[in-house]
Amino acid sequence: MSNPQLLADLERGLTLPASWYSDPEILRLEQARIFRRSWQYAGVASDVADPGAFFSCRVGDVPIVVVRGRAGELRAFVNVCRHRGHEVAKGCGRRETLQCPYHAWTYDLDGSLRAAPRSEREPGFDNADWGLLPVLVDTWGPLVLVNPDLDAAPLGETLGDLPAEVARRGLDPSTLEYRGRSREIVVAANWKIVVENFLECYHCPVAHKSFSRLIDVDPDAYELTTARWTSSQIAPARAGQNLPYDPTGEITESQFYFIWPNWTLNTLPGPPHLRVLVFQPLDAERTATFVDGFWAPGTPDEIVEEITAFGTVVGQEDTELVESVHRGLRSGALEHGRLLAGSEHLLQHFQRLVVDALA
Ligand code: FES
Ligand SMILES: [Fe+2]
Repeated sequence: MSNPQLLADLERGLTLPASWYSDPEILRLEQARIFRRSWQYAGVASDVADPGAFFSCRVGDVPIVVVRGRAGELRAFVNVCRHRGHEVAKGCGRRETLQCPYHAWTYDLDGSLRAAPRSEREPGFDNADWGLLPVLVDTWGPLVLVNPDLDAAPLGETLGDLPAEVARRGLDPSTLEYRGRSREIVVAANWKIVVENFLECYHCPVAHKSFSRLIDVDPDAYELTTARWTSSQIAPARAGQNLPYDPTGEITESQFYFIWPNWTLNTLPGPPHLRVLVFQPLDAERTATFVDGFWAPGTPDEIVEEITAFGTVVGQEDTELVESVHRGLRSGALEHGRLLAGSEHLLQHFQRLVVDALA
């Protein structure tokens, strides 16, 4: 199917073809044209605060290592040894050098190859040719973002007005502190199904009863906005009894931001915080997710735990939804779904970005 036809279908409210949600060939294209070309969440800046500190992570199917150099520069590399491809760094920690555990090729913190055992016996072997491959890295407050595409536009181009919008709504990421990772799970659904579920709250009154007691999910109250590479969903907290937790705090709205292609910022009513929820394709039918929580300093543990637990309840409800959608789409019974533009135009925007990226 040609792209003009696909885009015309999207315009009419049809979804992407159902087969795109389980086809390994589509995922192969997405890895090459989306995940190897976009800014994605890598981890927490405080994990790489000191010289020699590093952490490993993955964007799409590319292993990445982020490392703080001796003079304080933040760098990131493809975490794949130039010898024969073993991952060089594992987990996080602090090192003088990065040494591959397979044959001990040893890289400097700036990525250059410092030593390769027995290479002195090889005529023509030049360390300078075999440094780790660099990728782009940047930070936004406590978040570290990377992009495997060295020719990509800077992070700011992807974020657009989002930092200003977040600030206008009472959040200053640079003041927030990391308080841990939660909900590290694998969901049995294509990554786009998981993203699309994030991008609408049409399902909230039906499928998230406790969330809908807390947040006004009425279409007249629930604000949906798209920008070039981001989108936002903002809604006021409801007053009243029988709320799932005590939402007292400076933040009085729920705020859900999506950043192309697969990371999101989530804030619920209460003290200032951002929960970064990431969706990483493992294969065409499985998506790894996790949530990193960043909170205003001094937020009591009980409140962090209560809101995190509430997020987990909503997340479990979503997991059941997206796994069911995955089974439905994979069945081959449908060619397309039909979106309701008024409530689901953020999905439509996302699907156009997918089509454009794969063109
Ligand atoms: S693969 Fe890294 S040293 Fe051989
Ligand atoms: Fe949901």
